[in-house]
Amino acid sequence: MTLTKESLRRAREERADLIRDLHSEVTTCYRLFHGAAEGRPGLTIDRYGPVLLAQTWDQTLSAEELTVFLDSAEELNPVHNHRAKPVNFEAHFPVEPFEALGEELGMTFDVSPRHRGEDPLVFLDFRAARRRVRLECRDRDVLNLFSYTSTMGQVAHSLGASSVLNVDFATSALEVGRANVARNHPGTGSIEFFQSDCLAALWQLAGRELPRRRGDSPYIAPRTFDLIVLDPPRLSKGRFGTVDVVRDYGSLLKPCVQVCRPGGAILATNHVPSVALEDWLKGVRRTTEKAGRRVQNLEVIVPESDFPSFDGNHPLKMAWITLD
Ligand SMILES: C[S@@+](CC[C@H](N)C(=O)[O-])C[C@H]1O[C@@H](n2cnc3c(N)ncnc32)[C@H](O)[C@@H]1O
Repeated sequence: MTLTKESLRRAREERADLIRDLHSEVTTCYRLFHGAAEGRPGLTIDRYGPVLLAQTWDQTLSAEELTVFLDSAEELNPVHNHRAKPVNFEAHFPVEPFEALGEELGMTFDVSPRHRGEDPLVFLDFRAARRRVRLECRDRDVLNLFSYTSTMGQVAHSLGASSVLNVDFATSALEVGRANVARNHPGTGSIEFFQSDCLAALWQLAGRELPRRRGDSPYIAPRTFDLIVLDPPRLSKGRFGTVDVVRDYGSLLKPCVQVCRPGGAILATNHVPSVALEDWLKGVRRTTEKAGRRVQNLEVIVPESDFPSFDGNHPLKMAWITLD
């Protein structure tokens, strides 16, 4: 299966209504072609403001596909990032990093397609969750775990959260988030960027002492929140333990439940395609109840229609869990 003019045209047609609506909401960042679901596995094409970004995994773009992609760029700057290891940016374009800004729902974010990491600076499939947070964050204390470039934290801050605490161990990602603050409506609450292992931060927030044998971690005092965003990667290993959302989601979720105020909510995600939604939700309920709290309401959020799926089983699973 290859990318053809016809498959791109079809993908655009299917998104015509969504794209019109997104533009009317001042959104210039969205997915235009979504891999296997649209006929070419291992290829995505996104618009990020002034950039048209093609990403490939496994197999790179063939000469024919490259022509189709470049022809579709119109007035946008085409960028191709090939993500197979080892990444060799020299073989793709452009070679030099360049800065770009894009909009989502009237907010501006750094969407530079070449930077220190490989992932785009804003995850587009998380837009549906950001929409929800916009509605729920006013006057709330928000904890944004695994915050990456803190897009979610920025949304909550600009939309009236009392406080936002973004936590990630990647300094460069937090720096991008800090720079985005000045680009957007200044919230009246506070916004903090806390560089730390999320497990160490969560344990301290929940009032647990850190095991000395694991070494030091920046101190943070115990505290509770009205809204907790838990958007972990599939797997990461740190001094304070392993984040593994397939084998042990519970050890991440439990301290979140402990720092969630009565009536508060946790926005939890799981990105692993092989994890079935129903199984993950069962585990989420079990952990919450074991931690001594009742799930008052659990609502599944699905990615918007620029992320089509064959069967409704989106790799990104998102749940809004309201606790008693
Ligand atoms: C999938 S991204 C999160 C995306 C983010 N929630 C958003 O809204 O864009 C995963 C992030 O987790 C961070 N990370 C992974 N393991 C971590 C750990 N143990 N402690 C702190 N950050 C971690 C990475 O640095 C990365 O920024």
